[in-house]
Parts: sequence; structure tokens; C-alpha cells
Amino acid sequence: MKLNTRKIKARKIHNGAKPISMLTCYDFQTAQLLNESELDLILVGDSVGNVVLGYETTVEVTLADMITFGSAVKRGAPEVFTVVDLPFGTYASLESGTKNAIKLFQQTKAEALKLEGASEEFCQLIKRCTQAGIPIMGHIGLTPQSVHQQGGYYTHGKNDSEAQRLILEAQSLEEAGCFALVLECVTPELATEITKKLNIPTIGIGSGDMTDGQVLVINDLLKMGPNRPPNFCHPVADFYELKRQGIELFLNDVKGKATPLKGNAKPLQS
Ligand code: KIV
Repeated sequence: MKLNTRKIKARKIHNGAKPISMLTCYDFQTAQLLNESELDLILVGDSVGNVVLGYETTVEVTLADMITFGSAVKRGAPEVFTVVDLPFGTYASLESGTKNAIKLFQQTKAEALKLEGASEEFCQLIKRCTQAGIPIMGHIGLTPQSVHQQGGYYTHGKNDSEAQRLILEAQSLEEAGCFALVLECVTPELATEITKKLNIPTIGIGSGDMTDGQVLVINDLLKMGPNRPPNFCHPVADFYELKRQGIELFLNDVKGKATPLKGNAKPLQS
């Protein structure tokens, strides 16, 4: 059954709730499949920039990109609560952030938006968006849109002062009105502590297994590309290899070297 922010907020594991499952999705057909599944939430992440558009970082992703991919996913998965990322630079000021959030929310028909960071200005924007009827999911720890400012991709919260800062950030985001919070590459101990301190659910990625939910990039889970997924992701399939085999079958078929694909092509090996 489709979730809503009230039901999502209640999904705290220490109250005995079932962990939240969230996967990224960027296209109509995968969204159709997720629409038939029991997945709780879809995230149209700005990771679309890395895994679909071939950008080096998510900094290059635009509002137009997120509208295109977000609306395609929503057309395929009308029954799944869908969160769309506000991309880099679109919420640098309160005014532009509000305007862009309204546009993205309206044009994708998403149920919520997500933004990275927890500065005072972002908390003000979150308050304004929630007052305007746009639910916001927070995101702290490793925030890829700030890769250059953070100085690379690494685990956050390893020392006391950083851990204290992240706890304060998490609490500010809850106070500002976020209905859930992504913790990306935060030490498992700190992710557990934040999860216990907050009343809203935490959704972890590379942050241990004690958060209220887990999110993965679907392309990593299914190994859609040639590169090894991050260490914390254990792929359940190798779709890159399956696609390679499928293309080879077609090429051999065209060359007349194999059983024609029509009818009785050799099944693909996973
Ligand atoms: O863009 C994305 O895919 C994300 C997840 C990694 C949480 O923000």
C-alpha cells in the first residue's frame, strides 16, 4: 500500500517498525517494475548524473534533468511514494530554492523532495517548503553535491567533534520539518546514535545496519555498469554481464553464427 509522510514518520525500528526500503530509479520501465514490488520508497537521486548521464560528479546535474527523470519515474510508479533530489545550485538561496522546489515538485508529481546539507539557510528553506506543502527528506554525512568542499568521498563522523556536529545537524533538520533523513557514509556507531536520538526515521547508505531504513543505488545493487560498486553494496546480479551476453547473441545471430534469436535463442547465463 502506498506510503505517506505520516506512515513513514512512524517507521522507527526501536518502536518495532519494519525497516524502510528505498532504491534509486531513473527510468519509466524500472519504475513500472518497482510499482509492482513491495518497495517502500523510490528515490530519483541526482546520482542519475553519475550512472545514467556519465558525469564525473552530481554537481553537473540540472533542474531540467531532474524534471525529465523524475517525471518519467512517476509515470511508471504512480503507486510508490517517490522522492526527487533537488540538484546542486538550485537551492543556494531561500528565494531560488523555494521557486525551484515548487517547480520540481509540481512538474514531476513526486510526493517529496530531498536536499543535501543542514546549514541554517537550508533549514529555513525546509521550513518554508514544508509550510508550502512540499515534504522534504534531509541528507547528511557524505553529501556528493559538496564533494569538492568536503574534499572527496569518505566516511564521516570518525572523531568526536565531527560526530557532535552531525548529531546537531540531524536534530536541526528534524526541527526544520524533515520527515526522514538519509545518512550517507556515516560510521555505524554514529548512525545508530543519531537514529536513537531522532523521532523521524533515518535511512542509511554505507552507514551500518542500525538505521531505520536502507537505500541503495539500483545500478550498484544490480551491477548495471562495468565498475565495482562501492564496498558497502553487495550486488545481487551482474546485469552488465547479462547485457554483454545479450548483445553478443544478437551479433552472432545477425552474422548467422548462432541459433536465430527469434524462437529458441540460448538463454543468457547470469
Ligand atoms: O542521489 C542519490 O542516489 C542519493 C543516494 C545515494 C542517497 O542521494
